[in-house]
Amino acid sequence: MAEAPTAAPITIVTGSNRGIGRSIATGLANDGHRLVLTARDDQRLQSVATELRANGATVATIAADLRAEGSVERVLAFTEQTFGKPDVIVSNAGTAPSDKVENTTAEMMQDAFDLHVAVPLAFARHSAKDMKSRGSGCLLHLASSAGLRGYPFTSAYTAAKHGMVGLTRALHAELNHKGIQVYGVCPGFVDTDITRSAAAAVAAKGRTSATDALALMGAQNNIGRMHTSDEVAAAVCMLLRDRPAGCIYALDQEPAAFLE
Ligand SMILES: NC(=O)c1ccc[n+]([C@@H]2O[C@H](COP(=O)([O-])OP(=O)(O)OC[C@H]3O[C@@H](n4cnc5c(N)ncnc54)[C@H](OP(=O)(O)O)[C@@H]3O)[C@@H](O)[C@H]2O)c1
Repeated sequence: MAEAPTAAPITIVTGSNRGIGRSIATGLANDGHRLVLTARDDQRLQSVATELRANGATVATIAADLRAEGSVERVLAFTEQTFGKPDVIVSNAGTAPSDKVENTTAEMMQDAFDLHVAVPLAFARHSAKDMKSRGSGCLLHLASSAGLRGYPFTSAYTAAKHGMVGLTRALHAELNHKGIQVYGVCPGFVDTDITRSAAAAVAAKGRTSATDALALMGAQNNIGRMHTSDEVAAAVCMLLRDRPAGCIYALDQEPAAFLE
């Protein structure tokens, strides 16, 4: 088990203006991290930052579309200018394109890979040298049970999340012995905007109500219900606090545990 940094860690959380990322930011603020929050919608980012600062947190924000060329470098440069080089990077930003395979375009696949694989890889590429020279650091990826098993109507998303799990394992194999922890956290369905929009899309086709569609998603989880974003955030905070040995942390089981 490696040591977590003793000074208030400098932590980037992507996709932190709502959903799981917002809950993670709240949990890490309570744990004393200095936070850089990023997402595209600046108004929502400001509202999260205002709320966290009102509770005494140290928070900076930078609006960015992480798929755009140079965005990762811009977020890292902003972090360094504001607080210093990051100790922890939580790659959480994501979208969940969902459709039958006949309608799954190359563009959907490219978008999913850009956000779930290329962006976390870019964060690792630009931070690894500094983290290795300090002998500490953590890269945490919000993966999914869709990175561990197949779900219908999500070929682009499921393929990208499998890619994210593979990336996490490869980085762990390469960097862990240098003192850098690399974690992938894999929840099943979580009650957030992503799942609510998917349920609304199913309801719009007239087959079932959005409420029933949400219940069906929860029933697909091994734990028999939806996770809450606060439960996912609690697991992320535990990993960043305790820094247990392991790589892929499966949440959709009782008890949650690292996979081999
Ligand atoms: N909900 C689930 O059932 C579930 C299950 C397992 C894993 N996950 C994973 O958990 C992560 C968070 O999901 P969530 O459910 O919290 O989703 P959400 O509520 O839709 O939030 C997604 C976040 O990502 C940001 N984002 C999306 N596209 C972006 C882009 N191009 N550049 C920068 N930021 C972007 C969004 O902000 P803007 O739109 O303002 O950019 C938002 O902050 C995702 O990686 C998802 O795959 C979710």
